[in-house]
Amino acid sequence: MILVGINGYGTIGKRVADAVSMQPDMNVAGVVKTRPTHEAKHAIKSNYGLYANNRENMQKFIEADMAVLGTLEDLIDKSDIIVDCTPGKIGAANKPLYVSKGIKAIFQGGEKPDIAEVSFNSQGNYKECIGKDYARVVSCNTTGLCRTLGAIEQAFGGIRKTRITLIRRGPDPGNSSKGPVNAIVPNPVTVPSHHGPDVNTIFPDMDIMTSAVVVPTTLMHLHTMIVELKNPATTGDIIKLFKNTPRIILVRASEGIASTAEIMEHARDIGRKRGDLNEIAVWEESINVVGNELFYIQAIHQESDVVPENIDCIRAMCGLTQNASESIAMTDKALGLTMN
Ligand SMILES: NC(=O)c1ccc[n+]([C@@H]2O[C@H](COP(=O)([O-])OP(=O)(O)OC[C@H]3O[C@@H](n4cnc5c(N)ncnc54)[C@H](OP(=O)(O)O)[C@@H]3O)[C@@H](O)[C@H]2O)c1
Repeated sequence: MILVGINGYGTIGKRVADAVSMQPDMNVAGVVKTRPTHEAKHAIKSNYGLYANNRENMQKFIEADMAVLGTLEDLIDKSDIIVDCTPGKIGAANKPLYVSKGIKAIFQGGEKPDIAEVSFNSQGNYKECIGKDYARVVSCNTTGLCRTLGAIEQAFGGIRKTRITLIRRGPDPGNSSKGPVNAIVPNPVTVPSHHGPDVNTIFPDMDIMTSAVVVPTTLMHLHTMIVELKNPATTGDIIKLFKNTPRIILVRASEGIASTAEIMEHARDIGRKRGDLNEIAVWEESINVVGNELFYIQAIHQESDVVPENIDCIRAMCGLTQNASESIAMTDKALGLTMN
């Protein structure tokens, strides 16, 4: 049984903790908070051992009468691997501690690629992560791009080039301090956005250009995709491929799922915890092959799509299985993810 310490118990960290606790081959060693907040109380209620990020902050938990078991260093000593889910750039500040303690660590997409030996996507490059000490699970948008583009690349002998517009959510739903409220913001204003080069950390040879804007919504990101195929494929072939690929689901406007709002409602209706949708949702009606160009529109639940990848990344780094499909199937079964 692999013991997983989770440093940073926010949007991603609490979901990773829950997902780890549902797997048959790993357990939560503990989670790290900086402050005695409602989330810290929730961690204790969930029976995840609570640790402070340092001695000074540990005192705040003691003063708030919260059962704190030690500091991040104590958690590292009890863990086989740390999943660092702290806000972007803090992972880089934490890395020297992980190195000095000789513990494996997974970082998230808010960190620069060079923080780790390898960037990770389950379907894209599981094998490259086997036995590694430091890996970075790519961001929610990059994970979404790798899932569908990777499936196309593998099934149809490659992609000649792809051009993508990303329409990004402003803040996450639980964040009241960020906008935009009434504007559409090119972000970044430069092209390509960082997403294309990030996909290249998984698929180095893919010719990909991305541009991105941020809009006043909290629910999901949306990508409009144009893919030039190397080999012929029909619209039907692509629909069949996405139907049979793990972690991609097809949704239909004709069945009332006409926007990201209805996708999130669907996730709540099927009983997903926190209303999460770990899969990438592709609108079936949007899939269209014209000549050698494929068009489709997909939506990404930014708070949860990277969670199964973190689980697979733990398995690869800890050598629990050498086989990506086996890990993906095990993770998805435990999380209750099903195919279309
Ligand atoms: N949210 C997304 O859409 C999303 C999607 C994919 C990847 N990511 C990436 O995942 C990482 C985490 O993002 P997030 O959205 O989960 O951030 P978040 O919601 O802000 O959660 C991070 C948590 O870390 C805690 N924290 C802050 N400083 C810390 C420290 N020094 N040590 C330990 N914990 C600390 C904060 O809680 P306390 O201060 O209360 O303890 C905070 O709740 C980032 O790299 C981000 O880019 C985010």
